[in-house]
Amino acid sequence: MTDLNSLTFAFIGAGNMSGAILGGMVKGGVPANNIIATNRTVEKQKALNEKFGVVTHLSNLDAVNSADVVILGVKPQMMEATLNELVSSGADFSDKLVITVAAGLHVEKYTNIIGDVRFIRCMPNTPSLVGLGVSGLYVGTNPSTFNAEHIENDKKITSAMFDSVGISVWLDQESKIDDIAAVSGSGPAYFFLFMECMMEKAKQLGFSQEDANKIVMQTALGSAQMASKSDDSFEQLRINVTSPGGSTAEAIKTFQQQKLDKTVADALDAAVARAKEMSKL
Ligand SMILES: NC(=O)c1ccc[n+]([C@@H]2O[C@H](COP(=O)([O-])OP(=O)(O)OC[C@H]3O[C@@H](n4cnc5c(N)ncnc54)[C@H](OP(=O)(O)O)[C@@H]3O)[C@@H](O)[C@H]2O)c1
Repeated sequence: MTDLNSLTFAFIGAGNMSGAILGGMVKGGVPANNIIATNRTVEKQKALNEKFGVVTHLSNLDAVNSADVVILGVKPQMMEATLNELVSSGADFSDKLVITVAAGLHVEKYTNIIGDVRFIRCMPNTPSLVGLGVSGLYVGTNPSTFNAEHIENDKKITSAMFDSVGISVWLDQESKIDDIAAVSGSGPAYFFLFMECMMEKAKQLGFSQEDANKIVMQTALGSAQMASKSDDSFEQLRINVTSPGGSTAEAIKTFQQQKLDKTVADALDAAVARAKEMSKL
């Protein structure tokens, strides 16, 4: 793992997602006093200082100017105003690695404001909050401005940061950010929906809310954990619990007759299409 300890990081608009990432970095051994977090809500800033010991007394401008790596964590609709304010107050991004976690904004949107800088787009997901995130990463640095060695080093820094809250995957085209957003970005919601449906039916079968919740939760956790510890494919794992002619086989047949595979594929296509629409707004 790349040593992050010699770098200073500034999280601008440190909310839920940035809080998860900086928390993972601190737990992974990055000194808290090398991490600066800003938030326009003072209580949120204070909470990050109390929880992780990170530096929270600096303005956005001072945070950027003190950092080697700037992580932009504000909501997409706040990004333009935040960057314009920073640039007009004298922020200089030219020698920084800039990483954004905002959905839907293309690299060009940023570089039009902050200039041709070393830049990485990241699509994290909420399980980063519990150290089990998936982050899609895309290099937006212009290769004719910065050399390959610089870009490689930036990739190592970014992988080390996002691997501290889960796993990361490098993407070779910016459009793949929309694809990974549809799979892992939105993915937790799909699993929660499935869990919701199972819990409702468990209640109809007579289980209390508490028991239904517990049973479904542990089944999801156990299945994911089993899959992560096994060399078998998801398909093989499914076959392993589906005895021919048994009750699981009847349930699986119902899903297949009702074309669960097509429903899932259509849902992901709809998410990709919406991400593309939103990035044009
Ligand atoms: N959550 C996800 O599942 C997920 C997944 C992938 C990507 N993302 C991306 O992650 C980004 C952050 O999401 P989040 O869930 O962490 O949002 P969040 O908790 O609302 O964090 C953003 C924070 O930025 C603060 N802020 C806004 N403008 C600011 C400014 N000018 N200076 C300093 N702080 C400012 C906000 O303060 P206030 O409290 O005052 O509003 C807020 O606390 C978004 O761009 C989103 O697209 C999120």
